[in-house]
Amino acid sequence: VTAPRSAWGIVVAAGAGERLAAATPKALIDLGGQPLVVHAARALQEARLIVGLSVAAPPDAVAAVADTLDAAGIEATICLGGPTRHRSVLAGLESCPGGVALVAVHDAARPLVAASVVDRTVAAVEGPWVAAAPALPVVDTLKEADATGRVIRTVDRSRLWSVQTPQVFDRSALERALATADPSTDPTDELTVIEAAGGAVRLVEGDPRGFKITYPGDLLLAEALLAASEG
Ligand code: CTP
Ligand code: MG
Repeated sequence: VTAPRSAWGIVVAAGAGERLAAATPKALIDLGGQPLVVHAARALQEARLIVGLSVAAPPDAVAAVADTLDAAGIEATICLGGPTRHRSVLAGLESCPGGVALVAVHDAARPLVAASVVDRTVAAVEGPWVAAAPALPVVDTLKEADATGRVIRTVDRSRLWSVQTPQVFDRSALERALATADPSTDPTDELTVIEAAGGAVRLVEGDPRGFKITYPGDLLLAEALLAASEG
């Protein structure tokens, strides 16, 4: 048995947060006294298998992100995020030091991820597995419908999963897959790139606290969960 390899963390924090409709970029929105990006970066930093961090910041808020991480005592390489999540991930990848075997890409919009989930996901990238992500079973009944709303069929959800982050990659496998991917496409995530290249992607047990803050109600839920866990 070989010891689990460690990973470089990439926090993607460059989104505008249009669906949240706040005045500041989403990553800088306060959750219980700290901005979302601080919560997310700290969760990665607390994971045993994360050795260092890059944070992709919104181009117009690089200094604000750097200052807020600094004030929270979090050491990170700040890089310039791109116009899409995928481009922000690529910027983060470029800022990784050489010699790092694995990278863990995490959404700043998932501030309450547990460090144990991060470690479990990093450890899962071994042997034939070149990527891994935490996932939860889909809970709602799924229907396929036409444009008029008429249901065509009920989808069997027993094999369907909702995927969270961090998404962890064998770095060289990801770089190889990206090199052969069509550069004009903009995948929603990099697992898709690995899947297209035929790489084995592994799902591990996620946690409901890894949910993504998308709408204002999600922020209220996160505040309540944080307050409850702090007693
Ligand atoms: N992200 C990024 N760069 C972008 C777009 C998104 O780094 N150009 C990051 C976001 O900061 C977030 C994660 O990707 O941590 C998931 O994206 P999402 O939840 O869609 O955040 P936003 O794009 O900010 O929100 P919205 O789509 O509502 O504008
Ligand atoms: Mg978005």
